Amino acid sequence: MHVRAPGKINVYLGVGALRGDGYHSLATVFQAVSLYEDVHASPSDGFSLEVSGEVDVSGVPLDDRNLALRAAKLLAAETGVRDGVHLDIRKGVPVAGGMGGGSADAAAALVACDALWGTGIGSRGLHELAARLGADVPFALHGGTAVGTGRGDVLTPALARGRFDWVLVLGGRGLSTPEMYRRLDGLRAHGDSLADDALELLEVPVAVLQALRSGSAEELAPVMMNDLEAAAVLDRADIELVLADGVRMGALTGIVSGSGPTTAFLCGGPEAAGALRDELRASGRDALHVHGPVPGARVVD
Ligand code: C5P
Repeated sequence: MHVRAPGKINVYLGVGALRGDGYHSLATVFQAVSLYEDVHASPSDGFSLEVSGEVDVSGVPLDDRNLALRAAKLLAAETGVRDGVHLDIRKGVPVAGGMGGGSADAAAALVACDALWGTGIGSRGLHELAARLGADVPFALHGGTAVGTGRGDVLTPALARGRFDWVLVLGGRGLSTPEMYRRLDGLRAHGDSLADDALELLEVPVAVLQALRSGSAEELAPVMMNDLEAAAVLDRADIELVLADGVRMGALTGIVSGSGPTTAFLCGGPEAAGALRDELRASGRDALHVHGPVPGARVVD
């Protein structure tokens, strides 16, 4: 069983207060992009895993910290399946890059094992298990463009016309998501803080939703935002340089993707994106041209 699941960009990422459960309230817009994780699931007595890919996979855990393995075991436990599975993961999404690669693995593993075992859990059941595995896993199941609230796991589809062209610049060594959230809390505690009521009134601006609906990259560019960017930049000062380079070379705008260090540049169309990718590569950056929205985790024939 072969399932493919996409990485994501947060077109908008507003981070609110730290909640009692250790997560932050979010008002975010996800867009799934054409950079994929491929998971092949085959019958096995126990649970096992292998990981390879076009990106550096040395940081991927192969034990029970691996979200795909946890997804398979959770689905088996919840549906009374006694079989095991061997998961072969081929990664196209940068590891710890802020693009939800691990979450995509988990979503793909859920869909692949569900199909392999014929559990009959249904899409609502899968969504519920996805939310238990991690805040971004439901979106990787869902795909497309969606508003995420709660921890980012409460999804509402957003209308997005046409396609958006992005150039990604991979940031080398990954960044830890929990660490970036802690840093943001630290920055806010030291004066760079929002008023408490601003944290309470966290929501995606109407202008972001309108720009997505109209399919206009030019309208979307000026309203894109990521609260975690300040935290990522603290760790990697070169991110600011990359962002400035991308814009100077013709991007409409650039932001850090999720908790970074990947940066995402929005372009006016496929040609502009191809040209930007080439120019960034010529300057020594690891750049890719992708587009969104694309579907969530799907069985591949
Ligand atoms: O759910 P996931 O495992 O992807 O989250 C990783 C970590 O990122 C969480 O343990 C938490 O520290 C942080 N996080 C957060 N608020 C969110 C999502 C993630 O603080 N909404």
